[in-house]
Amino acid sequence: MSVSGATLVAGVAGCPVTHSLSPVIHNAWIAAAGLDAVYVPFNVPQDGFAAFATALRGGVIKGVNVTIPFKETALELSDLAGQLAEKAGAANLLTFPADGSIVARNTDGPGMLDAIFEQAPGYDPTAAPTVILGAGGAARGAAAALVMAGSPAVRIINRTAERAVGLARTVGGATSGFGFGDHRAALADAGLVVNATSLGLGGGAGPDIDFGSLPPAAVVMDMVYKPLETRFLAAARAAGHRTVDGLEMLIRQAAPSFEAFFGQAPPDDVDVRSLCLQALGVAP
Ligand code: ATR
Repeated sequence: MSVSGATLVAGVAGCPVTHSLSPVIHNAWIAAAGLDAVYVPFNVPQDGFAAFATALRGGVIKGVNVTIPFKETALELSDLAGQLAEKAGAANLLTFPADGSIVARNTDGPGMLDAIFEQAPGYDPTAAPTVILGAGGAARGAAAALVMAGSPAVRIINRTAERAVGLARTVGGATSGFGFGDHRAALADAGLVVNATSLGLGGGAGPDIDFGSLPPAAVVMDMVYKPLETRFLAAARAAGHRTVDGLEMLIRQAAPSFEAFFGQAPPDDVDVRSLCLQALGVAP
């Protein structure tokens, strides 16, 4: 790769950002598309995101994906936001048009749905209630996307019940929030359960839910992708459920980001999933 004054720059901003797989995905697409561009990880200090984003106004850098812990701040800083980002109260994509504005979007939610449609073909979000475990940044886009996709009920279950209730209030529509104590009733007629907590990262125990309360046809998804098959997904598979992994969601949220940065869809002749699996140390 050679870099010149004409090279387009985009990236991902987080704290920490070192282990992000987004550079693997975007730089593979850039190379395959033959673009003069580069995608850079930006390690932004915890209290430095506003200064960082403000400095990018005008578009010297095309845009950035936003990850932990800046997704809510990213939305607050924007001048214009997509409907889903507004509903979620969080943005994972900022672009910087030449007019100096900051435009925020949320591609996490659609990325999650695309991953589910890919790995659980035929899943219909309108057919049954959905359950989201967790009420942090990762849960926001998921809840908003499921409401917009027509889920008859979106039940947010969180260790801290008030946070789940607060998120339900932000997202609105057919959304409600509960503590973990209520999870069995929430699962009883659900068609989808998504782990949006950080539990299970690094191989630890996942959310402790009773899969016996969940209809066998329900799909189970984990946003955690390190390891690829979390203990939560392994337990779901053992209970007979179709499962969807977080790596597919990561790749799917990246595609509209790439298009927003570079004005073209990512090439489809590069196997970014295998590249990510290699980076994770898993044989594809
Ligand atoms: P993110 O942006 O990744 O969602 P976050 O905002 O810190 O990060 O949210 C982490 C989520 O995982 C929250 O829903 C959190 O529950 P609380 O709101 O009660 O803190 C959940 N979580 C983290 N550790 C947990 C644990 N040990 N048991 C249950 N839930 C946990």
